[in-house]
Amino acid sequence: MGPKMPSNQLDYRFYDKTCANLTKIVRYGVFSAIANETRLAASLLRLHFHDCFVNQLQGEKNAFPNRNSARGFEVIDAIKENIEKSCPSTVSCTDILTLASRDAVFLAGGPFWPVPLGRRDGLTANETAANTDLPSPFEPLENITAKFISKGLDVKDMVVLSGGHTIGFAQCSTFKQRLFDFDGAGNPDPILDESLLGSLRNICPNQDDSDSNLAPLDATSSKFDNSYFKILLNNSGLLQSDQALMGDNKTAGLVSNYCKSPFQFSKDFAASMVKMSNIGVLTGQQGEIRRNCRVVYSLLQKSESQCVITYSGTDKPPCSPPIYIQHRTSKYMFSLLRVLASTLSDGKGFSLRAFGFLSGLLVFWK
Ligand code: HEM
Repeated sequence: MGPKMPSNQLDYRFYDKTCANLTKIVRYGVFSAIANETRLAASLLRLHFHDCFVNQLQGEKNAFPNRNSARGFEVIDAIKENIEKSCPSTVSCTDILTLASRDAVFLAGGPFWPVPLGRRDGLTANETAANTDLPSPFEPLENITAKFISKGLDVKDMVVLSGGHTIGFAQCSTFKQRLFDFDGAGNPDPILDESLLGSLRNICPNQDDSDSNLAPLDATSSKFDNSYFKILLNNSGLLQSDQALMGDNKTAGLVSNYCKSPFQFSKDFAASMVKMSNIGVLTGQQGEIRRNCRVVYSLLQKSESQCVITYSGTDKPPCSPPIYIQHRTSKYMFSLLRVLASTLSDGKGFSLRAFGFLSGLLVFWK
């Protein structure tokens, strides 16, 4: 079945009457989370990408591509808790995540865009879809492209959205095979830049216990800019799937455009984010509004044993058996001011970025 895109049923003013403070509560939640840990901006963006592709926040957290990396969920929990206080059972978790990732990108120095609302939460917990629909960093570009196309996105969306890797980190397990034994004869990936290879080998020594160490996805990993595309031109993409964008004429052409024009990147990224946020949305009477984003209530009613939840350990689990996700303690304690300062301190492109930033700020705090 092809993806449905009933974006015309979404509405910018969907919660205006039922939850007027929604955007402010989300902003506050994202703002304070990022002030505490800069990387959470990246984690929220990734969570949203996965929610769009798998279409149910729930089942995906224990699937292979997400093990140990469904970070940021606590931020959504905290925001949801606040929203339930002022407008109970009204706002879907998926709308909250859509808004939160938009705010996260903006606070990391990226573009701002309006988000149409009115999505409903999925009724199933589908781990299989998470394993098969989400792209893997080890897959060839054609397979990844096919996954984007099957969701109603195109090659340009794929390239510009891959620019999301301008913020955040990846665990060594996701790229280590490039460093030591890429060809089965003990050699590294021949494309990988020599000096990057050296520093990555330091971060990820050739032993299993380095698997969860982290390397930045691009050179300025707390700042949303176009440097992701610049590093690809220098053979310094971290994931094999990142660097693969340079192995095809069409995708390589798009990479070099975004490398030259940060403005075009911002503009296209915002447009493709809206497109991605509209993949297969449930609206109207479809799906449900979850009160707790980790629980699929329709499954809870059917059978307690089918109710897969992840549970932070502070409340009584609403159903059993609970599945725990790993809550990594914050390694990066930067203040939000640093994010903002770094956004503005880049000499080149200062005026454009400052303009985008300030105009976004106006909309943001309206
Ligand atoms: C094109 C196919 C993609 C592949 C194969 C891919 C793969 C990955 C992998 C392996 C990681 C590291 C995960 C970990 O170490 O636990 C990662 C991180 C990340 N991905 Fe992607 N990704 C893709 C597309 C996207 C898209 C479309 C977005 C958003 C628009 C995105 C946003 C992110 C972000 C922000 C992070 C860093 C998360 C953090 O630091 O917590 N990715 N991705």
